Amino acid sequence: MTLRDIIYDESIRFILSGGKGGVGKTSCAGAIALLSAQRGFRTLVISTDPAHSLSDSFDQDLSGGDIVEIKGVDNLWGMEIDSERGMKEFQESLGQIGGPESAMASQFLGGTDSLAPPGSDEAMAFGKMLEFLSDTSFDRVVFDTAPTGHTLKLLELPDLLDSWLGKLLTLRQRLSSMMAGLRAFLGGGQEEDRSWEMLQSTKEKIRQARIALADPKTTQFVVVMIPEAMAVFETQRLLASLHAWDIPVSNIIVNQLVPENPSCTFCTNRRRMQQANLADIKDLYRDLHITEVPLFDHEIRGIEELKMLGGILIGAED
Ligand SMILES: Nc1ncnc2c1ncn2[C@@H]1O[C@H](COP(=O)(O)OP(=O)(O)OP(=O)(O)O)[C@@H](O)[C@H]1O
Ligand SMILES: [Mg+2]
Repeated sequence: MTLRDIIYDESIRFILSGGKGGVGKTSCAGAIALLSAQRGFRTLVISTDPAHSLSDSFDQDLSGGDIVEIKGVDNLWGMEIDSERGMKEFQESLGQIGGPESAMASQFLGGTDSLAPPGSDEAMAFGKMLEFLSDTSFDRVVFDTAPTGHTLKLLELPDLLDSWLGKLLTLRQRLSSMMAGLRAFLGGGQEEDRSWEMLQSTKEKIRQARIALADPKTTQFVVVMIPEAMAVFETQRLLASLHAWDIPVSNIIVNQLVPENPSCTFCTNRRRMQQANLADIKDLYRDLHITEVPLFDHEIRGIEELKMLGGILIGAED
């Protein structure tokens, strides 16, 4: 399956762009989002990297945690996740879930490490994924992810959260029978308590997200790398983890390939090194489709540049 097949396939709802630091993840996410929008899909591009650079890439302010319409392109919106704000909203919603015993529950939560919610940046990113899984106001969501380590944490979240919510549900059950006893003792009536169902439905949503994340018809993780040994090693580790979690990968983008230039010894030497690594990459990942992208003599910044990159991403195989 080529990159073009994925981008133009309307059943694909999530595309994640990931890899080592500085290889071109944001540029590729931007270009893929643009292509999706141009194809007519209502597209949202979200940066889950705490060190956001989506605004710089689009040359527009997409910060602040709100969905922003990207100027100059139809069907395209962008957002840089504001994890501090998101965490506040998350705690507030936990308060609501906790019902009358919420203060007690949050004390328990705060006091016990094994019950503390998983890392905030990743949790927020995953929360957005959950949100847009059931929200069909966007046909496609493209994730510009953080360098490998962070992103692996994000992808292991469904399993972590599932067990965390399991613990919370058990705690909730205990607290609830205790409070019911107390209310009866004080002569209070039966209060309607929807917190149990809310926790159960969150758990169910996470289960659905896990299924969507593992479904190659819905989700595709596009690995971006450069043809250098360090990136090859990191890509091996990334692919092994993605494989272990059943996250579908069918495409690798090899970026920043030095073009041929016989009059430049420096370029020729670099190119020789890169071409040797590229041959290894092709050999290692025979089952994956590989798209080669040249190193430009300028930065990739703004809509026009991203469109040009997009043209290479879908045209290279033609
Ligand atoms: N093929 C290319 N030719 C020239 N410049 C490129 C190319 N690909 C990316 N760049 C430039 O390299 C820099 C890093 O690219 P980008 O931000 O897309 O990488 P990233 O993997 O998202 O980095 P980070 O890990 O910091 O998020 C940017 O300035 C971008 O314009
Ligand atoms: Mg980036």
